[in-house]
Amino acid sequence: MTTNSSTERPIRAADRELPHPPFRLPVLGDVWDLHVTDSSQWGMRGAQQYGGIYERNIFGARVTYVSDPDLLTEINDDKLWAKFLGVPIGTLRSVAGDGLFTAHNSEPNWRKAHEILAPSFTAAAMRGYHATMQACANELIEYWADRSGQWIDVPSDTNKVALEVIGRAGFGYEFGSFTRTDEHPLVAAMLRILTYINRSAYSHPLVERTVFRQQRAQHLADLRFVNTEVDAVIAQRQSEGAGGHGDLLDRMLTVSDPETGECLDATNIRHQILTFLAAGHETSAGVLAFALHYLSRSPEIAEQARREIAEVWTGEDLTYEQVGKLRLVRRIIDESLRLWPTAPGYFRKAKQDTMLADRYPFEKGEWVFVVLLQLHRHPSWGGDPETFDPDRFLPERVKARHPELYRPFGVGMRGCIGRQFAYHELQLVLATILRNFDLTPDPAYQLKVKETITLKPEGLRLKLSRRD
Ligand code: HEM
Repeated sequence: MTTNSSTERPIRAADRELPHPPFRLPVLGDVWDLHVTDSSQWGMRGAQQYGGIYERNIFGARVTYVSDPDLLTEINDDKLWAKFLGVPIGTLRSVAGDGLFTAHNSEPNWRKAHEILAPSFTAAAMRGYHATMQACANELIEYWADRSGQWIDVPSDTNKVALEVIGRAGFGYEFGSFTRTDEHPLVAAMLRILTYINRSAYSHPLVERTVFRQQRAQHLADLRFVNTEVDAVIAQRQSEGAGGHGDLLDRMLTVSDPETGECLDATNIRHQILTFLAAGHETSAGVLAFALHYLSRSPEIAEQARREIAEVWTGEDLTYEQVGKLRLVRRIIDESLRLWPTAPGYFRKAKQDTMLADRYPFEKGEWVFVVLLQLHRHPSWGGDPETFDPDRFLPERVKARHPELYRPFGVGMRGCIGRQFAYHELQLVLATILRNFDLTPDPAYQLKVKETITLKPEGLRLKLSRRD
């Protein structure tokens, strides 16, 4: 057993005392205090009550919530702590298997896929997706122009554009989101899968086989359906000959791992496609929806952004280089992600027995949940953390800040591979929207955040009027 070098006492989880909700019960622990439908916002409210590290005990299992940036200096360090597949991320393996997001750190396919795919996600690689992203943004503009002056269901429509972007840039697949009247069957099945996983994550298998028998049967049918659909896309590309499309699927079929010389196998490619669909769609769509909510309530910031866009966007189309010059648009996205990191947290586990901050003993394999919603509202941000203020991201203010205070894309080797992709897409689409529309908020709307693994502004609607 490892000892704490300062005291020479063994490191034992049992010695860890953390603030927790009152009225802890024998056996049940703090189960009365568990909120399944808004668990991240509940994690945030707990942090506001109990502090930067606290725990809930659910039937003997200890869930530790961390939102103190000083503690994250250690927890975010890959030498000391590593990604952990907590609930419900681990449950996503039923659909995404050993895809990048849900692979265990030690699974050989994680390293292999990371090596093969990382070059497709550099800032420079975004040049290759730029025209596709622009085409999708233009389709959204046309779709909204036909509805000018009407109420728009914002989260639903931002989902459409993000889905088209990842479908086309990922594997050359058009979902027809702007022309269909019904939901695409693959999208409908994916949504049901994610909803089922989110709901059943804390359930018992016996409960699923009895009380939720029908939903489980539908879930299994959905899994079979998405697997067959995606396998057909891969087979189609193989029969056409991969190589000329410039998307992620081409790369997965043609590029080999520099270390082993092997390509990804067909099942793993399916896992990656389903991963990109799930990880790269609702996250970006949510950020866009939150940004539009805040801009509709801050017309002076929207105007300032329009002035920047007019200065930068001089020709017919917004070019790849110009996207990088939209500094305020980028700050708006960062500030939206600060307030509502659409992936609201991540799990880390101790790689060895460790005394966190010389104070909290964690045994090897014990894990914590990083509460981004509260980290991003930590007092170190200064002022009222609920105020939408993109200038928090001015370079001099970023430099002066604690380095662990802003982590919407996770950390370390398992941090988000799609970060540049998301920024390029979001800057391009948001600039295109602001250039083309004025945003009118619904005065009666109160922001309510819905959690379905990712976050979105529930029921947000705006009136958009076409600008000259
Ligand atoms: C604003 C949008 C996005 C946010 C907030 C976001 C957030 C995150 C976070 C927090 C993680 C780390 C999760 C963990 O540690 O358990 C992650 C991982 C990942 N993200 Fe994103 N993401 C976004 C967009 C995207 C996009 C557009 C793609 C793909 C095109 C993508 C693909 C992935 C993948 C594959 C991983 C797993 C990486 C690995 O473990 O190797 N994400 N993302």
